[in-house]
Amino acid sequence: MSAVPDPGLDVSPELYGQEWADDYDELEVTDPVETTAMVEALASLAGPGPVLDVAAATGRVAIPLTWRGLRVVATDASPAMLAQLRAKDPRGLVQTRVELLPDIGGNEAFSLIAVIANSLWVLPEAEQQAAFLRTAAERLTSGGRLVVDQYEINPAGYAASRVWDLHGVRFSRRSRYDSAAQRLVHQFTALRPDGSLRVRNVHLRPMAVGELLAEADRAGLRLEHAWRNWWREPYSPGDPRVVAVFQAP
Ligand SMILES: C[S@@+](CC[C@H](N)C(=O)[O-])C[C@H]1O[C@@H](n2cnc3c(N)ncnc32)[C@H](O)[C@@H]1O
Repeated sequence: MSAVPDPGLDVSPELYGQEWADDYDELEVTDPVETTAMVEALASLAGPGPVLDVAAATGRVAIPLTWRGLRVVATDASPAMLAQLRAKDPRGLVQTRVELLPDIGGNEAFSLIAVIANSLWVLPEAEQQAAFLRTAAERLTSGGRLVVDQYEINPAGYAASRVWDLHGVRFSRRSRYDSAAQRLVHQFTALRPDGSLRVRNVHLRPMAVGELLAEADRAGLRLEHAWRNWWREPYSPGDPRVVAVFQAP
């Protein structure tokens, strides 16, 4: 077993996509029922569009939003991830763009910007995460919404190794968390029935829910809803996850 790398290491933003694009939908999109709830909730918040899905990966949210008649722009650091998205979108309904957070390119305004599944955590610095919230606030239409879906920081959870089975793949996760630097590395191993083994490291800068709310407030965004899941149950401090809906003035 390889050692979990130093959480202080900065890695290329393309790395995640290079390592995960080919089996992301198989191994990472594990709960289609939840994805449907996500799409329902986002569609109800989207207004007239256009919608921007950042760090969109293979488009599990972006593609079904276009089926609701919304114009959707999906950005990601990874050309490989966006290639997977386009392969699932033969009519080219989603506009894709390779783009690095915290930037939002172009100059159009969006009625909804979505940051799903801890995707703000891919940015290694607090200042970059805050910069993204400021940029998003500037790029929303009046009354437009930013939705951020993320977990709470969980040092006890990172300390425990986990093993689980999915589609015949034996997965394990070990993590290293540097609380002073607020940097985290998850190391996933995937052992397939044919004996092949893949080891992948995901480098993150977890943002506490309180920090997210404070930075969004500083960026001029008003918290409209805080849910504990995509079924829109109310969030309470201490819950493991938040779906935060912020509104621009
Ligand atoms: C957790 S995955 C995507 C989750 C996706 N929003 C979803 O819900 O399926 C994180 C994504 O961030 C992308 N990514 C990593 N670093 C990035 C960066 N600096 N800018 C933009 N995208 C980045 C990866 O390529 C990957 O597709």
